[in-house]
Amino acid sequence: MAVVAVTNRIPASGLEALRAEHEVRAWEHEECISRDECLRLIAGADAVVTLLTERVGEEFLAAAGPQLQVVANVAVGYNNIDVEACRAHGVIATNTPKVLTETTADTAFGLMLMVTRRFGEGERIIRSQTPWQWGMFYLLGMGLQGKTLGIVGMGQIGAAMARRAIAFGMDIVYADEHEAAVELLAGMPSGSVRRASFDELLRVSDVVSLHCPYMPSTHHLMGADQFAAMKRTAYIVNSARGPIIDEEALVAALQSGQIAGAGLDVFEKEPAVHPGLLEMDNVVLLPHLGSATTETRAAMAELAAANVLAVLRGEAPLTPVT
Ligand code: DGY
Repeated sequence: MAVVAVTNRIPASGLEALRAEHEVRAWEHEECISRDECLRLIAGADAVVTLLTERVGEEFLAAAGPQLQVVANVAVGYNNIDVEACRAHGVIATNTPKVLTETTADTAFGLMLMVTRRFGEGERIIRSQTPWQWGMFYLLGMGLQGKTLGIVGMGQIGAAMARRAIAFGMDIVYADEHEAAVELLAGMPSGSVRRASFDELLRVSDVVSLHCPYMPSTHHLMGADQFAAMKRTAYIVNSARGPIIDEEALVAALQSGQIAGAGLDVFEKEPAVHPGLLEMDNVVLLPHLGSATTETRAAMAELAAANVLAVLRGEAPLTPVT
């Protein structure tokens, strides 16, 4: 029996799968684990299940010890993991792709609808008991039909966002280092999707939605120059990772009317949110709810557990990050 440390609460189905084969040391308190407690919990573990809030680098790997075989991140994004350091220590790192694709695309699509149709603004008016009256010109938003959605990063989630947008009558342009895999575009009418350069995407899109991973090359991918290149009537949506956007530049672009609005599920210094964003009505803010459904979180925990179990049995992990 090996020792598996689980550094924060995860759905029961994931824990049960681990407990069926190994000794599990799990943090089961409501509040997040502190760094010190985390480093204590993982000492001597053969496998660790982590959330995106844990930094997995040299300090973490040293605290766990040389017997550590696998770090299973319960997230598709793994920018919290120093993959090179894991490799150097002979530790396999895994993530949870695919199981959260549809849920995360729902979140991105919800943000796009909310911000373009001003639903958050309308809700705030009702809740604050501000007087209102139906009117021909009251709280008019932008219709999505016939508009262009620019998808930055045509992976699983980008493609799921594209499918939703096509069903709403939007045209898609996407920017990606690579031509999208044929199976990702399956079922999409060929005339509604095309690849473009990032610069063209910024120029032609009515909504720009970010679906690329966060890595050194995508740090501040959206900065002052990129917002300046967008239409003044266009919106930005981010359900990927906060630091892909230079938040300071975003606030400036919104304040100057350089772009029309923003829908954000992630933030540069999460959980802190730039105070400038809080003041603006043309901004929709969610507390990183991308994959937050009961079903999806259970599937993520189960996939992370399956990765741990495979590695501890001497088998190949299901979804390694490299
Ligand atoms: C992920 O899996 O990377 C998401 O951000 C979690 O919701």
